[in-house]
Amino acid sequence: MNKTIAIIRGDGIGPEIVGEALGVLDAVAEKFGHAFTYQEAPMGGCAIDAFGVPLPDSSLKTCLDSDSVLLGAVGGPKWDSQPSANRPERGLLKLRSAMGLYTNVRPARMFQDLAAACPLRADIAKRGIDFVVVRELIGGMYFGEHSTFEAGGERKAVDVCAYTEHEVRRVARVAFDMARKRRRRVTSIDKANVLDTSRLWRSTVEEVAREYPDVELLHMYVDNAAMQIVRDPSQFDVIVTENLFGDILSDEASQITGSIGMIPSSSMGEGSRGLYEPIHGSAPDIAGQNRANPIGTILAAAMMLRYSFDMAEEAGTVEAAVDAALKAGLRCGDIMNEGGTLLGCREMGAEIRARI
Ligand code: IPM
Ligand code: MG
Repeated sequence: MNKTIAIIRGDGIGPEIVGEALGVLDAVAEKFGHAFTYQEAPMGGCAIDAFGVPLPDSSLKTCLDSDSVLLGAVGGPKWDSQPSANRPERGLLKLRSAMGLYTNVRPARMFQDLAAACPLRADIAKRGIDFVVVRELIGGMYFGEHSTFEAGGERKAVDVCAYTEHEVRRVARVAFDMARKRRRRVTSIDKANVLDTSRLWRSTVEEVAREYPDVELLHMYVDNAAMQIVRDPSQFDVIVTENLFGDILSDEASQITGSIGMIPSSSMGEGSRGLYEPIHGSAPDIAGQNRANPIGTILAAAMMLRYSFDMAEEAGTVEAAVDAALKAGLRCGDIMNEGGTLLGCREMGAEIRARI
């Protein structure tokens, strides 16, 4: 198969981790006889430096014309003083919205070989961690009106949080469909004891649940959910939640699996084109030092193979190569443990490639 992939290297460690993921994709192409064409799409701080804006139209077009998009990470302290409408993160939000990517899927699965890196008590970790956060990605407070103004002699800031029923319904369906392929339990997370958007969220999810009588639906307030994720993560199968809550809970969920550096994510809308990225940020403190863990990005590339290109065997091969490297005791700094072999970003990429 021939596929065109838009490549957003981004900022900080982004270029390093994307480089390793492309090496893995090349190895897959060679082994399975595919041709992947990479089209560069600058976005983030580097695009602000080169073009004055975080997402130039040319990059957006490259992404919209591609079969899928692979992204490293964007942002960094260098661009912190940009006006809020021109920050690197705005590029990412604009891209998500322009591509119509309303569902973000972030698996939280503990790798058995990394159990030592799990920060939870051993008896809790032993019950296993294997759930998925389905986060609504282009609604809620992220996309409501933002403003800062003078009011009564001081500054006041407002961020509007809004949801419509159809925005809730379409992401809820993704969560229920996914639960059908897993353990058939959806936990919908909201703050319905306080927020109107949450009450709309809850009643709409309940409506959708009627189409899925074989899937169990539970509701949980977001504060309780933050606590339950560390108290007993084994109770979760599929979590579905709105944009901001999903942003926060998915970081928490990734960290209990050992390291945020290991977790990939997919963002999808209608159709097969998606945006795939690790869930961690650009880690400017270790950028350019060959110290980043490329596994989150490599596993994101595997998700792209599976979900956008329907290449389940190829995806499985990448995931097995990652597992094999971990089994062999190979580690990056974020997952290093006693007896492990510490590798740099490039060396880890090469070891995984060698196992394809
Ligand atoms: C994420 C990130 C983004 C978000 C930022 C970079 C805008 O934290 O993908 O979780 O908040 O969605
Ligand atoms: Mg986040």
